[in-house]
Amino acid sequence: MSDILQGRPVRASASEYSEIALPNDANPLGHLLGGRVMHLVDLAGALAATRHARRPVVTASVDHMTFLHPVYIGQLIVLKSSVNRAFRTSMEVGVKVMVEDLTTGEVRHTSSAYLTFVALDEQGRPTPVPPVIPETDEEKRRYEEAGRRREYRLQLRSRASPTGRPSRGPDWP
Ligand SMILES: CC(C)(COP(=O)(O)OP(=O)(O)OC[C@H]1O[C@@H](n2cnc3c(N)ncnc32)[C@H](O)[C@@H]1OP(=O)(O)O)[C@@H](O)C(=O)NCCC(=O)NCCS
Repeated sequence: MSDILQGRPVRASASEYSEIALPNDANPLGHLLGGRVMHLVDLAGALAATRHARRPVVTASVDHMTFLHPVYIGQLIVLKSSVNRAFRTSMEVGVKVMVEDLTTGEVRHTSSAYLTFVALDEQGRPTPVPPVIPETDEEKRRYEEAGRRREYRLQLRSRASPTGRPSRGPDWP
């Protein structure tokens, strides 16, 4: 087995990404747009996946997202991401979104999401990634659960495109 495919612990790629919510990204109510939060979730997820694979990655899927609290302009968004499990060329990454009110110090959990990233080789084809070594009880639980979520995602994928390949969709001209 080459060095690159030796297992790596979750802590080796766990990442944090933060940004202040700015007026340019607000909706008319003065809350941060949900789409901006989704963009940050994608970036934070890609950060952990790239660190794990040490390869360029693309987002293959995003599981559903819930927004528990509004994010107000001026608050700090802190995104924590870690690779729950690696399969062959894909990885499930969990991202937790926290919001800090910088004036009071209050921190609230506002969203979580699971994303699947695929590592690509120099020709842009999916390429194998190292296995994840879960160490803590929490990491072992996430590792097991990631396997069950993958089965569900692959079922959805084959329903959307029975060949398993990208579909042109019903509206393709
Ligand atoms: C993701 C992508 C690389 C998969 O390519 P593919 O030719 O279908 O390759 P494969 O069928 O070999 O799948 C590669 C891996 O992706 C996984 N995968 C593909 N689609 C998936 C989905 N919807 N959900 C979860 N995993 C998925 C497969 O299970 C496989 O994982 P494994 O190797 O760990 O078992 C390809 O569909 C792609 O490039 N999509 C666009 C990505 C992109 O541009 N994202 C940005 C948003 S627009």
